[in-house]
Parts: sequence; structure tokens; C-alpha cells
Amino acid sequence: MSRIEKVGVIGSGAMGAGIAQIAAMSGCDVIITDQSNESLVAARENISFSLNKFASRGKITDDDVKAIEGRLHFTENMSAFEGCQLVIEAIVENLEVKQSVFSAVEKIVGDDCILASNTSSLSIASIAAACQQPERVIGLHFFNPPALMPLVEVIPALQTRIGLASTLARHMQSWGKLPVIAKDTPGFIVNRIARPFYGEAIRMLEEGIADAATIDYAMTELGGFRMGPFTLMDFIGHDVNYAVTETVFEAFFYDPRYKPSFTQKRMVEAGYLGRKKGKGFYNYNEGATKAEPVMDKALHEQILMRIVVLLINEAADALYLGIASRDDIDTAMTKGVNYPKGLLRWADEIGIQSCVDQIDELQMFYREDRYRCSPQLRLMARDQKTFYG
Ligand SMILES: NC(=O)c1ccc[n+]([C@@H]2O[C@H](COP(=O)([O-])OP(=O)(O)OC[C@H]3O[C@@H](n4cnc5c(N)ncnc54)[C@H](O)[C@@H]3O)[C@@H](O)[C@H]2O)c1
Repeated sequence: MSRIEKVGVIGSGAMGAGIAQIAAMSGCDVIITDQSNESLVAARENISFSLNKFASRGKITDDDVKAIEGRLHFTENMSAFEGCQLVIEAIVENLEVKQSVFSAVEKIVGDDCILASNTSSLSIASIAAACQQPERVIGLHFFNPPALMPLVEVIPALQTRIGLASTLARHMQSWGKLPVIAKDTPGFIVNRIARPFYGEAIRMLEEGIADAATIDYAMTELGGFRMGPFTLMDFIGHDVNYAVTETVFEAFFYDPRYKPSFTQKRMVEAGYLGRKKGKGFYNYNEGATKAEPVMDKALHEQILMRIVVLLINEAADALYLGIASRDDIDTAMTKGVNYPKGLLRWADEIGIQSCVDQIDELQMFYREDRYRCSPQLRLMARDQKTFYG
């Protein structure tokens, strides 16, 4: 594995700045470009702020901060990418714009330079298709904020050279990241498997099974999730969360399992975008009364199990369809979105047959394809197998 010494980052927004920071922290020289000088100035300030925070916590020294800052070069001109071994794109989520940027970068860098995209929802195959050498194009999906979240999804496209994904995964390990390899399918691992965390919580709210505070309470206090679904959606912003849900739904050819909700769509239309607007599922304005959960242990149990078995169903289906390995699926959910346990390990604890029974019960009651059980779970229940046997 040849060393990566010079890295180019295109886009200096939330993700690009963080990615540039970790590359520089791992000793690389980093060229960071953006079409907006304002964004470059903000990125420099944000990176400095973050590095100083690391130093104040004793994670790095003041000399390290200076050295890392010295390795970061900000410019509006992509020609500075000459000699890069790796270029990572983190610009606006628009296929035509990304394709034109990839095609421009290819003319600047050498033949051995890896070209990676941080896209969350576009297919890597469609980005690679714009390149003369599509075999060097790959997905490299970081989590927000990149400097703190260890997970990186590495996504080879249909055109990507065999072996490039594992080479890049090793590079990411040397940057202190936890890489997992995912197939080029909508949502990759995390954004695919996590859909029921939001969707099923909203569905229970719509059906009047419980209110937001009670569902959040069940998921955090009983389930051990760091944030409940409604608190998390308010935090992410309903515009962002709804857009991901809609994109994944469309990209799966309208599979009912990923259907968005009217509740969230109306909230976006009304401008109730969550914490950033002072109002979402909860009211964040000064003086607002805090919503209190209903204290009913059986109800909490019912809420937790309904969401968890549907998350397990997604995880099992991702394994069944070869989206990622068992270990990568469990790592992705614990390290990318801080789930308290790997979902496949959780399935073993609950019992595979019990998961199948609970999912089938939902399907028999609702008669909706949304609740169809993955063949992976059915086969394992039939053969009395476990994921970690
Ligand atoms: N925000 C997240 O949580 C998150 C997580 C994982 C992946 N992503 C993906 O990362 C990418 C960037 O997201 P972000 O949240 O950092 O966006 P952002 O809006 O914060 O930053 C995007 C930056 O790209 C710049 N830009 C746009 N078009 C450009 C062009 N043609 N050439 C050069 N610079 C250009 C903009 O000026 C802006 O500074 C997207 O593809 C997004 O889907 C985002």
C-alpha cells in the first residue's frame, strides 16, 4: 500500500472541513478548495476551533495544532491538486455538479490518484460514469462531525478496480477511522438500516399508540439509545431528515418499507424544522413546558420492541442482499449512529424466531408490505441458527 501524503478535498462546508482536518491530523498535506472564498475562510476558523478544543482536552499539544494548521492549504484553485494521491469530494449533493467536478479533477491529478465522493444518497456508479478512469472512483462516506465520528463507509462502484476498497479501508484505519465496506445501494449501510428508527416512531405517533415524549423515553431509558427518534429528528432538522427519507424511498423504487410520512412532510412545509427553528416535535422556545412521558412499562416495552425488530429486519435484509458483512453491519450502527448494540447481536439476544414472530404479527395485523420479514431471518429461524453462533 503506497503512502498517501498529499490529499485534496473539494468543498469546505461541514463535511469537507472535517475531512480535511482528519487528513491533516494524520500527517497528510491537504489542499482544500471551494468555489466560495467565504466558505474557505469559515472552514479555516472552524478547523482551528476544533483543533484547539482537542488541545484543551489534552488529546494533542499546542505544537501539534501549529503543525496540523501548517499542513492545511486553502485555495479556490483546483490546480493545486497536482500530485495528490487521494482527492475527496464533499460539495453540494447534486449529480450533474459532482460529475462535472470529477471530470475536471481527473485532468489535474495523475493516473494513480484515487477519486472519492462523500455523497450520502447518489450512486457511486453514476459519479464514476463521468470519468475517463472510472475504476479509480469510489465512495467514502464520513459521518458528521467527521473529526469525532469514527465510522467511514467505503463504497466501491460497479466500475471500481478490485482491491481499491480494501486498500482505501486500510488508509482510513491509518487515519484512526473505522472503515466498513458497503455495496453501492441507496443509503449504503447506516442510512438504509436506520429508516425504521424514524419511520416506525412516527407511525406509532400517528396511530396514537404513544406521544413523542413517551416513545423517546422508551428508546433511551429502556433501549439505551443515546437520543430518542423525535429528539434526534428535531436535532438533525426535518428538512434534512425528510429529504433523506424521500430519496431513499425513491431510490428503492418506492418500496413501502421506506415510505415517508405526511406528519414529517407537513412539518417541513410549515417550517417546523426542529431545534434550529425553535419548534419541531418539541417546543424549544423559552418558557415552553417540557413534554413528559407516560410512565407505563408495558407500553415502553411494546414501543422499543416494535422499533428494534424492524431495525433488525433491515440489518438482516442488508446481510441477505450482500450489502455488507455481519461485522460491518453491526460496527456501522454502533459507531456511525451510536446504537447501544449491534442489531444482529441484538437479534441473537431476542431470539431469531421471536423476531420473526413479532414482524409477522405486525404484517398480519396491518396487511402491509412495509412489515414483510427478511428471508434471512426466516431461513435462520427455520435452521435454528444465530448470527454469532
Ligand atoms: N452534512 C452531513 O451530515 C453529511 C454527512 C455525510 C455526507 N454528507 C455529504 O457531504 C457532501 C457535503 O455536505 P455538507 O453538509 O458538507 O454541505 P455544505 O453545504 O456544508 O458544504 C458544501 C460546500 O461545497 C461548496 N461547493 C458547492 N458546489 C461546489 C463546486 N462546484 N465546487 C467547489 N465547491 C462547491 C459550497 O460552497 C459549500 O462550501 C454532500 O454530498 C452530502 O450529501 C453530508
